[in-house]
Amino acid sequence: MPGPIANDNFSNSTAHWRALDAAHHIHPFTQSNLLAREGVRIIVRGKGIYLWDSDGTRLIDGMSGLWCVQLGYGNEELAEAGADALRTLPYYNHFFKTTNPYTVELAAKLAELLPTGHTRVLFANSGSEATDTALKLIRYYWNMQGKPNKKLHLSRELSYHGVTMAAASLSGLTPMHTQFDLPLPGFEKVPAPYWYGAKLAGYGDMGPEEFAEAIAAETEKKILAIGPENIASFSGEPVQGAGGLIIPPPNYWPLLADICRRYDILLHADEVITGFGRTGSWFGCQTFGFLPDIMTMAKGLSSGYQPISAISLGERMGEAFANADEELVHGYTYSGHPVASAVALKNLEILERENIPARVHNSIGPYFQRRLRETFQGHPIVGEIRSVGLLAAIELVADKISHEPFPKDRQVGTLCRDHCFAHGLVMRAIRDTMVLAPPLVITEAEVDELLAAAKICIDLTAKDLGRLEHSAPP
Ligand SMILES: Cc1ncc(COP(=O)(O)O)c(C=O)c1O
Repeated sequence: MPGPIANDNFSNSTAHWRALDAAHHIHPFTQSNLLAREGVRIIVRGKGIYLWDSDGTRLIDGMSGLWCVQLGYGNEELAEAGADALRTLPYYNHFFKTTNPYTVELAAKLAELLPTGHTRVLFANSGSEATDTALKLIRYYWNMQGKPNKKLHLSRELSYHGVTMAAASLSGLTPMHTQFDLPLPGFEKVPAPYWYGAKLAGYGDMGPEEFAEAIAAETEKKILAIGPENIASFSGEPVQGAGGLIIPPPNYWPLLADICRRYDILLHADEVITGFGRTGSWFGCQTFGFLPDIMTMAKGLSSGYQPISAISLGERMGEAFANADEELVHGYTYSGHPVASAVALKNLEILERENIPARVHNSIGPYFQRRLRETFQGHPIVGEIRSVGLLAAIELVADKISHEPFPKDRQVGTLCRDHCFAHGLVMRAIRDTMVLAPPLVITEAEVDELLAAAKICIDLTAKDLGRLEHSAPP
């Protein structure tokens, strides 16, 4: 048997764990036979923005795990909050007219932090469950309002809302559909506010705001074609994450919110990535200036230390559910789990105490964005640099004038990501866009270290492609 996890010397265990993993463990979003041949990396420890693998290699986690570790790794207060709850009340549910202090305190704290009118929340365990729950609540809401025809769910191309049947159907990333005969009926897509891709998609040389107006008009046209009386909701991530870190032009969300209001379509903000300080406000909808009817959140709610998600209801939905004259026939065994609630509560306390959303807005976010541009502006293969708060995309292209991507078979994103791992940096590749979402507690010195590593890796990628002889100056 391998040694205890607390021990740092895993060199004899790596091969053993790799073999067990190849024999018994099917990974998410992974080609199993390829991984079994290559051998998996085993992460054993984390502290701050750093991770260590079982060979003792240190990595800078430029992605906060999967966009979730707001407070970084190894936070003792979160560990203590979880341990205390585990000792005190390791489990109980909320089904039989019961609750527990951790969960009610968490609900009340969220009500304090959430946008105007969002005073009521439900809990689940993942972003996907939150999406499914939100869609069910939206359907039930319209049934309660005597509008049972309002059933269709609108969302955007390249969106990601999770993997359950409904969440995958809502998602606009088409590779997620084929294997599973999705989407289910009743899901329609409208264009994403992906301005950099607009030129190739035939929108010509529109500026960002003009492009946002054009796709808002297309969205409205689609709504009129379907009939607003048949449309239940419009879902969107304030910033599209897994679709390529698409940051909308500033007029996009106000335009879309106005369309939803005019046609009586419930506006669902998927805040799973953008919640809890990531964009420099508590929630992405505040950064982008709109008020949703329903919000889903997960990830940063507990800094990823515990699986927990929440669904908040704005005034009109909240009132309807609080005053419904029948049982809500929905809930999970682990909805509002006491340990997850205790950790999330402590996480919110720390985010608030340390003023982290304001820090992202006023100091570390602007520093990160400035250094990012200083490092990559004018780089021979960097087409666009997008950033907000502590989110950034570096889109690699073959032609900076036409925005033409590299040929698919060059797998430029994967090439760059492999250089990153080899140089001690976790940077995600989405197609050929390199994405960064570091922990919100990152320091300026750590930003410099992260970007220096990213620069080496993007230079190496350019060299592999014959686009750079020597390292480009920062
Ligand atoms: C915007 C968004 N919504 C939903 C999800 C699904 O969350 P989970 O993986 O916790 O089910 C994700 C996951 O990355 C996400 O980015």
